[in-house]
Amino acid sequence: MDYLLTAVALLVTASSICIHLVTRAKKPCPAELPPGSLGLPVIGQTFGFLCAIRANSVEEWIRDRINRYGPVSKASLFGTPTVLLAGPVANKFVFFSSLMPMLPRSVQRIVGERNVVSHHGDNQVRIRGALSEFLEPDILKMYVGRIDDIVRRHLDENWSGGRTTVTVLPLMKRLTFDILCALLFGLETGTVRDALSDELERMFDGMLAIPVNLPFTAFRRSLGAGRRCRQLLHRITRENKAKLGASPNNDLISQLLSMTDDHGEQLLTNEEIVDSSVGTLIAGHDTTSTLMTFMVRQLANDPATLSSMVQEHEEIAKNKADGEALAWEDLSKMKLTWRVAQETLRIVPPVFGSFRVAIEDIKFDGYCIPKGWQVLWAASLTQMDPSIFHEPAKFDPSRFESQSSARPPCSFVAFGSGRRICPGIEFAKVETLVTMHYLVRQFRWKLCCKENTFIRTPLPVPLQGLPIELEHKPSLSPFKCDQTL
Ligand code: HEM
Repeated sequence: MDYLLTAVALLVTASSICIHLVTRAKKPCPAELPPGSLGLPVIGQTFGFLCAIRANSVEEWIRDRINRYGPVSKASLFGTPTVLLAGPVANKFVFFSSLMPMLPRSVQRIVGERNVVSHHGDNQVRIRGALSEFLEPDILKMYVGRIDDIVRRHLDENWSGGRTTVTVLPLMKRLTFDILCALLFGLETGTVRDALSDELERMFDGMLAIPVNLPFTAFRRSLGAGRRCRQLLHRITRENKAKLGASPNNDLISQLLSMTDDHGEQLLTNEEIVDSSVGTLIAGHDTTSTLMTFMVRQLANDPATLSSMVQEHEEIAKNKADGEALAWEDLSKMKLTWRVAQETLRIVPPVFGSFRVAIEDIKFDGYCIPKGWQVLWAASLTQMDPSIFHEPAKFDPSRFESQSSARPPCSFVAFGSGRRICPGIEFAKVETLVTMHYLVRQFRWKLCCKENTFIRTPLPVPLQGLPIELEHKPSLSPFKCDQTL
């Protein structure tokens, strides 16, 4: 029965998309549609696009279309007509116009529909405002010591102890998950956190699967895992609500629970708090771990940059007592390290780009983008453009030395820009700087795989998750983790 319903649903969806495409073509449009072809009905160019993402050749795929049709062209992706745009001016249009971010419907069903990305208008401003308050430097300052403690424990438990090889990506994922769980949900190690980690993994597995809700499909497993994730967070939300006021709890959920509107009512509903927390966990988890993994890979290939970074961190360590945690002021001295991070983000952006949707007919560069069409922006199209970044394949952190460089606005967009710019930039910065501080002072490493390739899933994944040979630096005094923190 379930199968029959799904088949009917698929048929209805496919026919309505076809009808939409046919009728849309007949609608008068105030300006010309962009050049290009929509390909076969429904399928369009989706398979070619997905293969290109996986093979990490999506930039070539888009460039090929630019060569054929120019910087504004049309295609059909995931059953929806899509306009592909390139260049800083196009990025500015995407980030500052009325175009709306969108998560595919199937992903919304998995992660929950009341998250920050899926809302727009007043609701988006209200939810994003609440979230941003927690992620701003004034609040983050208070958490540097906590992040420092988690990082040191992580290195102690997973990198030290005579290990000679480690695989970087899964370890970085565990580290960012631990940091997010502690700061967003107040969850320390234990069965609830392990359960959340398992469910999150299952949820990711089916996120990009064909969205067919049948027994044994990856999509159904992912839907179930998403539901259980939210149930766990609902429980934590209820527990935190019961404790509000009784004990000082500074995690994101407690902060969101204590925010009120002008009438003294809770600002966000429990559903909005849970769905936004899942969204933030997903947005902040793999992105930062990917950045740190690719920094480790870059530093293994670049002894000059590594040695300057070691010097920067030794200088900071000189002024600290043995075992003393880093403070906010220390992070502001890690200028080179953040430039290395930015240059890594330029060459390997964790988020390759994303889709927006037109909520009304809108014009760009003389072309019409009709209401309901998608727009795709891709970070590398400007970040690897030789007319903006000279010798773009060359790793050169000094490109980020001056904020007032001659680069056009919206050409470095690893964190997006405009109203939807990543609200987690400072959070990612703190995690990355603290981790790199301990990593470069405690270890030397060599890559086990010499090839510099990676695939996208859709985040970049280096060969075999980046196994490295590890050597402990003898000159450093052993860590003294303050177990009471
Ligand atoms: C290196 C790390 C990170 C990168 C490269 C990154 C990148 C991005 C990008 C490109 C967007 C905008 C997507 C768009 O405009 O369509 C975004 C949005 C977002 N990011 Fe990040 N991010 C990172 C870390 C984090 C962290 C640590 C958090 C939270 C703790 C976070 C939370 C969010 C949220 C909630 C959004 C959605 C904002 C909205 O729609 O208003 N991100 N991120």
